[in-house]
Amino acid sequence: MTDTAITIREAQAADADGMAAVHVQSWRSTYPGLIPTPFLVNLSEPAAASRWRSVAEARGPGQGAFVAVDTGGLVAPAGTIVGIASYGARRATVDGYGGEVHALYLLDEAKGLGVGRRLMAAMAERLMADGVRSAGLWCLRDNPSRWFYERLGGSRVAERPIRFAGAQLMEIAYGWRDLAPLARLSAGPEVR
Ligand SMILES: CC(C)(COP(=O)(O)OP(=O)(O)OC[C@H]1O[C@@H](n2cnc3c(N)ncnc32)[C@H](O)[C@@H]1OP(=O)(O)O)[C@@H](O)C(=O)NCCC(=O)NCCS
Repeated sequence: MTDTAITIREAQAADADGMAAVHVQSWRSTYPGLIPTPFLVNLSEPAAASRWRSVAEARGPGQGAFVAVDTGGLVAPAGTIVGIASYGARRATVDGYGGEVHALYLLDEAKGLGVGRRLMAAMAERLMADGVRSAGLWCLRDNPSRWFYERLGGSRVAERPIRFAGAQLMEIAYGWRDLAPLARLSAGPEVR
């Protein structure tokens, strides 16, 4: 189901607080058991807001961020940011892929409505408009959300160990050699 009561648009610096709230809530919902508890407890919305403000301000060719806003008051008070996404091409780290999805997080209540798919499509469209034809991303291997990337046609292309918050973790990379099919998903699931 694609719901137009939730609008996808480019992130602005003024969205930083709302983006930080999604970031912190989604990390605390997604990563218990995967990332050490003290790191999740100590997440700070003001610190996250400062980082998201920088990301929004740094938008330009090959990099930027999107927000999903519940304009219709479907799952949250009207105007609430319920999803965030960021991408870039300048520091893409998946070998052989020109762009990279850096972050994609939704509030729990906004999951399962097609918002993740629309955010991925928006990033793919924008990367292509900026001349980037392929993209990858890194995801914790034990994060069940990774099946979402498989559903969207991502191929498993690499794995790597990382040290994060004092823990040894495994990441898996997904890649899309051609972003065009992903970009077309913005038109709705029926075009797949
Ligand atoms: C991963 C995430 C962004 C997906 O967003 P979403 O809006 O819930 O997903 P969508 O509704 O757009 O789903 C698109 C398709 O993927 C499938 N899908 C979504 N999440 C899935 C999951 N965890 N496992 C398997 N399939 C999944 C949906 O069933 C849907 O399939 P369909 O095309 O047959 O209808 C969201 O669940 C989320 O924020 N998760 C927590 C944060 C996170 O882990 N982010 C990724 C960090 S690497």
